[in-house]
Parts: sequence; structure tokens; C-alpha cells
Amino acid sequence: MKAAVLREVGAPLQIEDVQIGKPGPREVLIRTAAAGVCHSDLHFIEGLYPYALPVVLGHESAGVVEQVGRDVRMVKPGDHVITCLSAYCGHCDQCLTGHLSLCNGQETRRGKDEAPRLSQVGAPMAQFANLSSFAEQMLVHEHACVAIRKDMPLDRAALIGCGVMTGVGAAIHTSHVRPGESVAVIGCGGVGLAAINGAAIAGAGQIIAIDISPAKDNLSRTFGATDFICAADTDPVKAVLEMTKGGVHHSFEAIGLSKTAEQAFDMLRRGGTANVIGMIPVGERISLPGSAFLGEKRIQGSVMGSNRFPVDMPRLVDFYMAGKLKLDEMISRRLKLEAVNSAFDDLKRGEVARSVIVFDA
Ligand SMILES: NC(=O)c1ccc[n+]([C@@H]2O[C@H](COP(=O)([O-])OP(=O)(O)OC[C@H]3O[C@@H](n4cnc5c(N)ncnc54)[C@H](O)[C@@H]3O)[C@@H](O)[C@H]2O)c1
Ligand SMILES: [Zn+2]
Ligand SMILES: [Zn+2]
Repeated sequence: MKAAVLREVGAPLQIEDVQIGKPGPREVLIRTAAAGVCHSDLHFIEGLYPYALPVVLGHESAGVVEQVGRDVRMVKPGDHVITCLSAYCGHCDQCLTGHLSLCNGQETRRGKDEAPRLSQVGAPMAQFANLSSFAEQMLVHEHACVAIRKDMPLDRAALIGCGVMTGVGAAIHTSHVRPGESVAVIGCGGVGLAAINGAAIAGAGQIIAIDISPAKDNLSRTFGATDFICAADTDPVKAVLEMTKGGVHHSFEAIGLSKTAEQAFDMLRRGGTANVIGMIPVGERISLPGSAFLGEKRIQGSVMGSNRFPVDMPRLVDFYMAGKLKLDEMISRRLKLEAVNSAFDDLKRGEVARSVIVFDA
């Protein structure tokens, strides 16, 4: 099958022929229909986070089940599915206390002594995030995908697989935004726009979108933002403190910079919560004013929207079908796998919501 391979940090992805295995007892073979291009893939290309190479990137996808292993119970051939990198074992203490997205179980991966899921003329090829979506097929554990209704378009379903679940979940699950509360979102790419949308669904009052690209002004309002601050020419902390008369209840960092994580904390009201969604480069630290803790200000991480994805993703599909979740507006561009590198160039410019790779049926 055709797949986009990262061979070297900083190099463009190459379209290569890669071999995919047969499903083990609890594995599912999926024909990829669409894959979104998330900034996390770019962080790995840039080497800000290390990974085994060569690797097939991509982790935000939807497709159709082709084949299942003998013990698979969650899906069957012909099912339309969304994949999720939060593969859960189902029986560790995190899973059993409802924190599926924090599962550390290793059994959803293949062991070192087993044949790899992906290979190339006999040599192993790393599978990214248990998925590797920039490929015509995916071989995943059954707990890394969920079946959805068949009237849901798969190119939009793919976005739910990472960015949308991450943003909406950060607002609803991680930070528990309540009706009427104020929200600020720093960084309005796919993830930040989804956080804005999630805050709107939760009934937030004021929702302040912040980005350095002026193109995000109108776009963020489509997702529910009530105000926009262009951080290229305005200090976002000062502006938010003024606009809200003392700070927001919830802030979300959706870029991956220590500076903007600090800004997220500095724009809180007393008792407010800052959520760091962006992937701050490994080894970097952030600095906070210690006295602010007397105001019961909090800062926390949010990974994959603190999801329980087998429950959440079909609900997000229903939200889209009901017009509450904005996915048509999220797709800036549809492209073929061969054009994947140009989608990373678009991400670097910061002007897109999401680019989606659409595979031939
Ligand atoms: N925690 C998780 O589970 C999770 C999941 C998905 C993605 N992420 C991370 O979330 C981050 C955002 O991902 P994305 O795909 O939405 O990225 P993106 O590139 O589409 O969006 C980033 C946005 O930030 C803006 N920006 C850049 N610098 C800025 C600054 N100094 N101030 C204000 N705005 C600025 C850009 O203009 C752009 O609109 C990345 O770090 C990604 O790796 C984390
Ligand atoms: Zn992602
Ligand atoms: Zn587990």
C-alpha cells in the first residue's frame, strides 16, 4: 500500500510502498478514507518530540473496516469507524476509574517479539501513535477505533479523530466549562477552533479567540467566538484582563509554546483554570508567578480532550448532524496523499483550520 514515510528529522515525507500485516486476534484492518493533518505530526517531523524512524505519520482518521481478528467484538467488516490514538486496555486502574485517555497499557501495541504491523521488504517500519493514518490502510487494536453512523461523511469524521475531540474535550471534560462562564483560547488552528466550538456547546458566555493571524478573526467567530484579539499587535493578557474586568474562568493554550502557556495562566481570574493542550517542546519549562496561587488559579494539561472516545465520538457525530459541531467550516483544503508536504507548509503559515487528505475510494 501507499504511505507517507518520515525517514529523517526535518526531511519531507516520502510516498513509498509499505507492507501491512494481517489482523491479530484483537486487531482491525481499516481502509483509510480520510486523514486530517494535525500540528502534532509537524512537531515530530521537526524533531521537537523524538520517535523511532522510519515511521508512517498521521493520526487523525476515519475509514471502513475491511477485516477483523477472531476475538474482535467492537466492530465488524463494513463498519465506518473513527480511529483514536488513545487506545485503552480496559482493565488498568486508569481505565477502570474512567480515565481511558490516560491508559498506560501496552497490550494494544504489538510486542517486541511479534512481527511489526508495518514493514518494508522485511524491515520494520514504526507505526505512529498506534495508527499511522497517512496510508491507504491501517492495522489497529480494536480499542483504537469506534463505529459511527453511516450517514456521517468520512472526511469530516476524520477530524473528530484528534483535533476536534481534543479541543471540544478540553472545554467539556478537562476544564468543565459551565453555562455563562468566560473562556479564552490562544491559537486558533484545528484544535483551538474546536475548543471554541466546545465552549460554545457547553454554553460559555464570552469566548475570546486569540491568534497572530488576522485570518482567524472571522473564522473563529464561525465556531462561536464572541471576540478576537490579534496577538501580533496587541498584548493578549492585558487585553483579556480589560475585556473581562479581571480575567477568564477558563483559558486554553492550543499552540505548543511556553510563552503562550504562561499567557494562558496570566489571563485567569481568581479561581480560574488554564489548560495546556499544545505540545511544548520536550525539555522546555514554563515560569509562573508564585503569588497567583493565593488566588486559587490552576494550570493543568489536557491530552486528547480527556476523552472516553467510544462514547464521545459517536456523540460528536450526532452534534455535527444536528448542526452544533462545525466541521464543514473546519476543512480549509482537501488534498491527495501525494500533496501531504504542502499541507505542512500551510500549517507553518498558521492560516488554515485543517487540511484533510482524502483517499481514493
Ligand atoms: N494535547 C493533545 O492531546 C493534543 C492533540 C492534538 C494537537 N495537540 C497540539 O495542539 C497544538 C495545536 O495544534 P493545531 O493542529 O491546532 O495547530 P495549528 O498549527 O493548526 O494552529 C496553531 C495556531 O496558533 C497560532 N499561533 C502561533 N503562534 C502564536 C502566538 N504566539 N500567539 C497566538 N497564536 C499563535 C497560529 O497562527 C495557528 O492559527 C499543537 O502543539 C499540537 O501538537 C495536542
Ligand atoms: Zn493530533
Ligand atoms: Zn488501561
